[in-house]
Amino acid sequence: MLGATGGTGRAIVEQARWRGHRVTAFVRSPEKLGSLRDGLTVFQGDPRDAHALRAALPGHDAVLSALGPVGLGPTTLVGDCARSTVTAMRATGVRRLLIVGVAVLFEEDGLLSAMARRRLLREVARDSAEMEHLVSESGLDWTVARSPRLTDGPLTRVYGVADGRMPPGADLTISRADLADFLLDEVEQPAHVRRMVGLAAVSAPARRAS
Ligand SMILES: NC(=O)c1ccc[n+]([C@@H]2O[C@H](COP(=O)([O-])OP(=O)(O)OC[C@H]3O[C@@H](n4cnc5c(N)ncnc54)[C@H](OP(=O)(O)O)[C@@H]3O)[C@@H](O)[C@H]2O)c1
Repeated sequence: MLGATGGTGRAIVEQARWRGHRVTAFVRSPEKLGSLRDGLTVFQGDPRDAHALRAALPGHDAVLSALGPVGLGPTTLVGDCARSTVTAMRATGVRRLLIVGVAVLFEEDGLLSAMARRRLLREVARDSAEMEHLVSESGLDWTVARSPRLTDGPLTRVYGVADGRMPPGADLTISRADLADFLLDEVEQPAHVRRMVGLAAVSAPARRAS
């Protein structure tokens, strides 16, 4: 797990634990894990360092990444970490990769036609597009969960999922808890391998649109 100290990362670790998975957190600041650390295997390191990742990966079924930059300024974090992760996974034979991306990369009216939003998220989107390029060329069994605005709302398990687009009729938000739920479902029962998946909360029960 990359990004375990973040909002989505914490939700993934907590839910993975409820589901009975064993989790390794690869983090730069283990002290930030707090009580989440109980029962986790923890590696300290820089996720851009392929050699360090390579040491942590053997014995794992999947890599989940909820890494994200601080702020909206120029960044190469997500692309750089995708490069190191792909390198380490290829070297160790771990094939399943699940990464959080950004829904702003869907070219859809209503989501992207908001020019201000595009401009605001330009740097994050550029970095995430680089990540998607590297991952889609990796030959691994990847899934990118392109997410709209993340909230700290509860786990509802009521959200739309669509391949290559945002789910029709969905909101433009999803809770970090529901994003974690999708990623863990996908680890357990892969249904969107080599897909850019749109995820969003839905007001009506229209889950699993694709
Ligand atoms: N926020 C939104 O509305 C939104 C919308 C769509 C998609 N996303 C994407 O969803 C993902 C998760 O978002 P989130 O809000 O849950 O994340 P978050 O709370 O901001 O957590 C980000 C994680 O990335 C790590 N990180 C940041 N910079 C790093 C660096 N230079 N080196 C190593 N680790 C670093 C953080 O580690 P530390 O704790 O050590 O800093 C933390 O674990 C991100 O990729 C984000 O771009 C967010």
